[in-house]
Amino acid sequence: MIDKIKALIDEAEAFKAQSKDEVEAFRIKYLGSKGLLREFYGELKNVANDQKKEFGQIINKLKTTAEDKVNTLKAELESTEEVKGIYGDLSRPGEPVQIGARHPISIVKNQIIDIFSRIGFNVSEGPEIEDDWHNFTALNLPEYHPARDMQDTFFIQTNPDILLRTHTSSVQVRYMENNQPPIRTISPGRVYRNEAISARSHCFFHQLEGLYIDKDVSFADLKQTLQHFTSEMFGKSEIRLRPSYFPFTEPSAEIDVYWGLETETDYKITKGTGWLEIGGCGMVDPNVLTNCNIDPTEYSGFAFGVGIDRIAMLLHQIGDIRLLSENDVRFLEQFKSAL
Ligand code: PHE
Repeated sequence: MIDKIKALIDEAEAFKAQSKDEVEAFRIKYLGSKGLLREFYGELKNVANDQKKEFGQIINKLKTTAEDKVNTLKAELESTEEVKGIYGDLSRPGEPVQIGARHPISIVKNQIIDIFSRIGFNVSEGPEIEDDWHNFTALNLPEYHPARDMQDTFFIQTNPDILLRTHTSSVQVRYMENNQPPIRTISPGRVYRNEAISARSHCFFHQLEGLYIDKDVSFADLKQTLQHFTSEMFGKSEIRLRPSYFPFTEPSAEIDVYWGLETETDYKITKGTGWLEIGGCGMVDPNVLTNCNIDPTEYSGFAFGVGIDRIAMLLHQIGDIRLLSENDVRFLEQFKSAL
């Protein structure tokens, strides 16, 4: 009998339960009104007197073991139920994580930065809210200069000296004011113009400015640099520099890249010519150097500006510039596989 009870104690100690029902069944089996303990207490009167003490002790031990077990199992099950209440089913498989995509403007901007940093250009930035000096006057565009009309400007009404920069050329000025040659820097950023919004133009867009100032920098250096850029960026190295006018460069040119006429889209985007304009450039006007405290008799340099939105639209076949600022996830999701 005693051995049987000892075995039951071991069994009770080892008992594990997954649910409250199992705990209750255990309780009934050991401690219930028709349970094992009741039976053993009933046996007590039949046990020989000299064994009563030992028998009593062993059934008491079974009783406390069973009671302790019931209490600890109940407490355990209650606490896991609480956790389940907060977190749901903890064994449930995880939900797939939505991975974001870089914005096409950032993708293209980073590509251009990569190309120019490999040939020694650093990246510089300037404020989007500019003053007249950095956006116009220092760039050889004094007040009342007719060329100011080339860029429809957003002015701050209460202070005509403050405006939203119309181009990243303002960063050229800031960089030259704060650094002496040799200078090799590119400045990407957002610019603003008071233009009607359509599929082809927006009141804000992105440019990337390039500036190279050193001794004996020539127009040939400018052309080589741009050629290197277009071949790295588009795989096309045939470019043409069309004479143009910017007040801050002399001579000035528009940069055209030969895109080819292989597909119907090529015809469309190049208007049947095969050539595509990607930006403006020129040799920095000596007046601009002087305005920025750089001696034009000692140094010369070139500058260029390209449109990042335009390049992104070209490379990713985006037909409407407005898509770039609407933040429609159905559009943005398509760039997940890009860099
Ligand atoms: N800032 C000019 C524009 O926005 C582009 C440019 C930059 C031209 C540098 C020449 C040199 O149109």
